[in-house]
Amino acid sequence: MITIAIDGPAAAGKGTLSRQIAEEYGFHHLDTGLTYRATAKALLDAGLPLDDEAVAERMALEVELSGLDRSILSAHAIGEAASKIAVMPAVRRALVEAQRAFSKKEPGTVLDGRDIGTVVCPDAAVKLYVTASPEVRAKRRFDEIVGNGAVADYAAIFDDVKKRDERDMGRADSPLRPADDAHLLDTSEMSIEAAFQAAKSLIDAALIKKI
Ligand code: DC
Repeated sequence: MITIAIDGPAAAGKGTLSRQIAEEYGFHHLDTGLTYRATAKALLDAGLPLDDEAVAERMALEVELSGLDRSILSAHAIGEAASKIAVMPAVRRALVEAQRAFSKKEPGTVLDGRDIGTVVCPDAAVKLYVTASPEVRAKRRFDEIVGNGAVADYAAIFDDVKKRDERDMGRADSPLRPADDAHLLDTSEMSIEAAFQAAKSLIDAALIKKI
């Protein structure tokens, strides 16, 4: 069993990269952001408050990793709510336990999020920290929305990216930061294909070491 940990800020390209890696190696993939989003959605659907840690913990304990639907959970309002409940230690404890259990699946796993290399899987065979400048990330999100035929406001998206970064990096419990032994991949001026090739070399080297 081998675990690949992929962390980084919102819209840095880590989701696409993780899915490509999982497909290439036949590994199971978990986007851990979806577990925070599913917890937040359960609270929103039940009309429960987003600032009651005990209630949020109960919802986190009920999240089923097999039932995470990206198309439903990607809604902007759910992301906003997720980043609020992600600061709660009891919520994090519940979700991290489920994520750790997932990371042990054979033949291998790819987990992406904010604290995989630092907290969830500190012994991961390969740790990647995928980042890009806030401007580049906001532009990618803008292009994605416009590409889907919707109207987007670059200034509002840029503002949102900066706010999300502050919340993810500034929280007391498991803030977003690269693990000491993480490999940095700055995708500001790197195509996703180049990032994938760089990741592949690191993973191939780790697999050889394991044999
Ligand atoms: O990556 P995302 O936008 O789906 O994440 C939603 C929120 O969950 C985001 O504010 C950060 C938080 N999150 C976290 O705290 N730890 C993780 N491992 C993954 C996501």
